[in-house]
Amino acid sequence: MARLNVKIADLELKNPVMTASGTFGYGLEFADLMPLDGIGGIIVKGTTLNPREGNDYPRMAETASGMLNCVGLQNKGVDYFCEHIYPLIKDIDTNMIVNVSGSSPEDYAECAARIDALEKIPAIELNISCPNVKDGGMAFGVTCAGAASVVKAVRQRYHKTLIVKLSPNVTDIAEIARAVEAEGADSVSLINTLMGMAIDIEKRKTLLSINTGGLSGPCVKPVALRMVWQVAKAVKIPVIGLGGISCAKDAIEFLMAGATAIEIGTANFLDPAVSIKVRDGINEWLDAHGCQSVSEIIGVI
Ligand SMILES: Cc1cc2nc3c(=O)[nH]c(=O)nc-3n(C[C@H](O)[C@H](O)[C@H](O)COP(=O)(O)O)c2cc1C
Repeated sequence: MARLNVKIADLELKNPVMTASGTFGYGLEFADLMPLDGIGGIIVKGTTLNPREGNDYPRMAETASGMLNCVGLQNKGVDYFCEHIYPLIKDIDTNMIVNVSGSSPEDYAECAARIDALEKIPAIELNISCPNVKDGGMAFGVTCAGAASVVKAVRQRYHKTLIVKLSPNVTDIAEIARAVEAEGADSVSLINTLMGMAIDIEKRKTLLSINTGGLSGPCVKPVALRMVWQVAKAVKIPVIGLGGISCAKDAIEFLMAGATAIEIGTANFLDPAVSIKVRDGINEWLDAHGCQSVSEIIGVI
């Protein structure tokens, strides 16, 4: 059996497969369907300083080879997470990583600081592509200055592994990656969803309540793969790749493009055990090709 373990800064992963935020709940919901400790990490639901209701329904629409969503970061806030969710997930034997969102750099930093105090959470993933309320709705993650301002504020108050999740809705994702690396990010993950839209022509209305939503699933994979390849060449910190991964072959493509680890999102909705199958498929491929370790294929392109 090939060695599957990888490292993201100080974070040791038993294998490079993780589940993506917003598509795997807090992990617990999947406990009867697959062994949670069989994968390298679980990135739990987006968490904010204060509770959020999320957007009105409808929030999801199916598209060709994918889906649109505008859930809008519905969650009960970081204090609820610390008090009620953390005790339930802290002993799951994998890296439990919290995805953090906010509406100002201070907001992000305060939320991150509260999670820093939780012993069994070894890392956070900063979602910097949610609306920037202070600056009139622009997302932090679409400018170097905006992205850097969040990472700078968080880095001062968060001392464990800091992963920054990048938005694909930009002209040059590599320059955003370099900007967050310069502020002390330990790793970048990409991609978040691509902005999209769908219309019901009989009702002459958009399918989603807020008109637009984030596109995910197999249809985004070629775009995500291209961006991972570009970012992996632009930064020295490890890259985590995601976007449309639904089988081992997809995951191996991301590893070859330069990702040290991968996340699986929308595919969990079709098959709750897909992440375990991807892990096993990577292992079989490595064995069949005479590789001793997954590190032999990372970044070969
Ligand atoms: C229903 C849904 C909810 C999501 N919620 C979050 C979230 O809270 N935070 C975040 O960073 N990304 C969120 N995402 C984005 C995914 O984590 C992932 O970046 C994206 O879907 C691309 O990967 P995929 O094609 O494998 O799904 C969400 C995606 C979906 C489909």
